[in-house]
Amino acid sequence: MQPKAKFRKDYRPVDFTITDIYLDFQLDPQDTLVTSTLTVKRQNSDATQLRLDGHSFEFLSLKLNGEPFSKYQKDDESLTLDLSQFPAEQFQLEIQTRLNPSENTSLQGLYQSGDGLCTQCEAEGFRQITYMLDRPDVLAKYRTKLTACKSKYPYLLANGNRIAQGELEDGRHWVEWEDPFLKPCYLFAVVAGDFDLLQDKFTTMSGRVVDLEIYVDRGNLDRAGWAMESLKRSMKWDEERFGLEYDLDIYMIVAVDFFNMGAMENKGLNIFNSKFVLANPQTATDDDYMGVESVIAHEYFHNWTGNRITCRDWFQLSLKEGLTVFRDQEFTSDLWSRPAKRIEDVRMMRSVQFAEDASPMAHPIRPEKVIEMNNFYTVTVYEKGAEVIRMIHTLLGEEKFQKGMKLYVAEQDGKAATCEDFVSAMERASGVDLQQFRRWYSQSGTPELTIADEYDEKRQTYRLHVSQMTPPTADQVEKVNLHIPLRVALYGENGQKINLQHELLTVSDVLDVIHEHQTFEFHNVPQRPVPALLCDFSAPVRVDYNYSTEQLLTLVKFADNEFVRWDAAQTLYINELRANLSRFQQNQPMQFSEALIEALTLVLEKANTDPELTALTLTLPKETEFAESFKVIDPAGIAAVRDFMQRSIAESLKDRLLVVYNQNRLPEYRVVAEDMAKRALRNVCLSYLAFTDVGNTLVHKHYHQADNMTDTLASLAAATKAQLPCRDQLLADFEQKWHHDGLVMDKWFMLQATRPDENVLEIVQGLLEHRSFNFKNPNRVRSLIGAFASQNPRAFHAIDGSGYRFLVDMLIKLNDTNPQVAARLIEPLIKLSRYDAQRQTLMRRGLERLKGLDHLARDLFEKIEKALQ
Ligand code: TRP
Ligand code: ZN
Repeated sequence: MQPKAKFRKDYRPVDFTITDIYLDFQLDPQDTLVTSTLTVKRQNSDATQLRLDGHSFEFLSLKLNGEPFSKYQKDDESLTLDLSQFPAEQFQLEIQTRLNPSENTSLQGLYQSGDGLCTQCEAEGFRQITYMLDRPDVLAKYRTKLTACKSKYPYLLANGNRIAQGELEDGRHWVEWEDPFLKPCYLFAVVAGDFDLLQDKFTTMSGRVVDLEIYVDRGNLDRAGWAMESLKRSMKWDEERFGLEYDLDIYMIVAVDFFNMGAMENKGLNIFNSKFVLANPQTATDDDYMGVESVIAHEYFHNWTGNRITCRDWFQLSLKEGLTVFRDQEFTSDLWSRPAKRIEDVRMMRSVQFAEDASPMAHPIRPEKVIEMNNFYTVTVYEKGAEVIRMIHTLLGEEKFQKGMKLYVAEQDGKAATCEDFVSAMERASGVDLQQFRRWYSQSGTPELTIADEYDEKRQTYRLHVSQMTPPTADQVEKVNLHIPLRVALYGENGQKINLQHELLTVSDVLDVIHEHQTFEFHNVPQRPVPALLCDFSAPVRVDYNYSTEQLLTLVKFADNEFVRWDAAQTLYINELRANLSRFQQNQPMQFSEALIEALTLVLEKANTDPELTALTLTLPKETEFAESFKVIDPAGIAAVRDFMQRSIAESLKDRLLVVYNQNRLPEYRVVAEDMAKRALRNVCLSYLAFTDVGNTLVHKHYHQADNMTDTLASLAAATKAQLPCRDQLLADFEQKWHHDGLVMDKWFMLQATRPDENVLEIVQGLLEHRSFNFKNPNRVRSLIGAFASQNPRAFHAIDGSGYRFLVDMLIKLNDTNPQVAARLIEPLIKLSRYDAQRQTLMRRGLERLKGLDHLARDLFEKIEKALQ
């Protein structure tokens, strides 16, 4: 049977709702009994059928108002009660099911992680526990009783407040929890296990004291402190910037090793991938520290934007995800460096999100059609969704945006809302017309702005001619004009900023692009300016303006905005890559341009005053970032040219890089912005120096002097990328030291998977047998197989098709064990239209092999169907 799609337009309110749920779990890893007692309330007096979702458990019994009830029909994914003879307004259902968490490798519903048990219910995992109206607009109050063996599972956790507990004579104990807030079942959670517990307290702005608890595997207490600090900072920031206060008396976070995504915002009981909780200087890099803080913040911010106000249906996912990503981005920007955070997010948009728009999976931030909901937790819904919120923020300004938030919360608290409810609140609170802006929610694809300019010296007038066009996408051919906020700045040739004026008035630096063609005119412009376009990436679009190298150098040198300087350097890198790629493809010798060396020399001059931006600007775009400036991608060519660029920069700037490298040595490891910037700068210097004659000595020394994971990993990466003689010894040393620690080994697996070596696939295949590898653990799978497919394009797209065959072999296994992870890993294979005919044929062959599988999961089915169309 082919999986069926659901459409946004088909949303209908429920005929019956569920107001109260009492869940009783008799927990056991092989044999868990669940009794669910539902209070059902009729919403539609004509309704005769009640269809409940449920699958992947053993159904034991059903009672209606205490009596066995047999008027139902059951299929693979639901139970439909015939209530035609039963017009009651309200009644109780009691459903018993039996589960085997230890064999649940899908990591949805109730499953075993290590020695513990936990749940994952978003999006549609609750229906793997018991029959339920599993949709986010059914809001109920939950009471949960957990019973389990006390020695094996000393902690029994669920949402809300602990209201009772007791011991049984057979060595089992029980705990009962009650969550006073209405919630949809996707926010339900339970955890049972033995943990180390880190405790703290937070006093909210109204003076309530909240217990904070972080549960980690035994022995990991020394890695939980940063997560706790991050949580307290998040709580404080949400009060200060958004006026939002926590609502329960307890906030729990549990770290588990087996987890499909980053973390989950279950009410009062977040469950996290341990990767986003555990951090100490020996095991976590600076990037890991930042990752932990932002995911902790993200899940915490969901308490308001997600939990108190949830989604009416899953098509509205961006309502909570886009908004919550925007909030976590703002948190990081307020606490650390705004330009650095912006650069990180823009790199993600331009590589991963733009690629998704150009793929068979293209969809608007509010999708119209879904087969498997798990496939729509995408960069489009999350990151582009956050960009759409950011544009609203740009159009309204902070004050009006916060007024809009207040109105949104006042109107929607305790409800399941839509994206339209949000935009409408913003519009009414601010008085800003968002009519045309709303199209961002329904239109997919990456808009292109084509910009030309014109300077009239006599009239001292400067004009920008702006045209917008959104190319057709796989899901949507016809496109309309969007409301695009285009932030610009004008610089004189010596870098002085030119005031934006119309007649004698200063005008906003945000241009409202609303038509297909528009001209913006500026007056009293004393000389031909250099325009900075789309400053701070004010909209998720591409800009096509024909910059001269001179103009780009002016921006790199003088622009007062860090993002503009960085972005101009990016354009220089891309131009350099393009020029050499055509030489390479025509078998001509590559040439490195003086202009780029000049630019990077300028950049290095700011090493002391702005180490962070210097490090970011010196970092060469990844192959996957370069790829997005081509319609047809040449993975081997891009890798070769990027390699050439890296070596050329290293050769030309060696002395300068060495000075900066030596100047930025730190006496001790501290997680503070200033030191992190210096480490980043020193390590990017090292990554270039690795390609010079001092490389081996320097990298070897760096590894052995490192007193933290950031430096250790930087030296390993440098050794691997530059294929230094010391590489094998360092990799072996690291493995010896860390093989018992999966999270740390993920870094090692990732380096192995992205090796430039010819025989990297053979190495990766060998590592499937490594003592630290475990096919059932999504983190391991992602760091080895996922990194190979998505971060090593040269090897994955090998012209003999070996990379594709390998991925398909792995996907066939994952289709049976964990389809959600399989559907993430398949991404590079479905983007076949971006490659040459020969590769396309090979990729298609791989997809067809998968399509022929006997039990193809709907997660993979949806993507394969689209890719083969
Ligand atoms: N809502 C979660 C977040 O944004 C992510 C999430 C969705 C998730 N589905 C999941 C996490 C399944 C784990 C498994 O933070
Ligand atoms: Zn989220």
